[in-house]
Amino acid sequence: MAFFQWNDQLSVKIAQIDMQHKKLVDMVNEMFEAMQAGKGKDVLGKILAELIQYTRTHFATEERLMQTHGYQDFAAHKKEHDDLAKQVLDLESKFKAGEPVMSSSVGTFLKGWLVNHIKGTDMKYAPFLNSKGVR
Ligand code: FEO
Repeated sequence: MAFFQWNDQLSVKIAQIDMQHKKLVDMVNEMFEAMQAGKGKDVLGKILAELIQYTRTHFATEERLMQTHGYQDFAAHKKEHDDLAKQVLDLESKFKAGEPVMSSSVGTFLKGWLVNHIKGTDMKYAPFLNSKGVR
């Protein structure tokens, strides 16, 4: 079984966003599995860089949707995106600096980073955007 499994409780009922969240879940699993397999710094750094890049793409998609439809909590949501991006960039810096990091703690961090944001923050825009016909 994968370290991190998608489930319907994570669905915001918007096909494009669910697809992006699923891809992020896959990328967190890829990172965890590569660490567990003892892959080298270069491989892990590449996976992490791809995760960061895709996170940027995903955040930009959500931000565009929220702005287009006049979501009232846009600013707070955007700030959380900026904070999350910083956290994962800090993790990348540790990797690049060669600091020892445990696969379990990185896995748990990335899983929590994604789950808490989806369940706690993304879910708040879901009914609003759904009511605007975004599905
Ligand atoms: Fe799905 Fe707000 O990130």
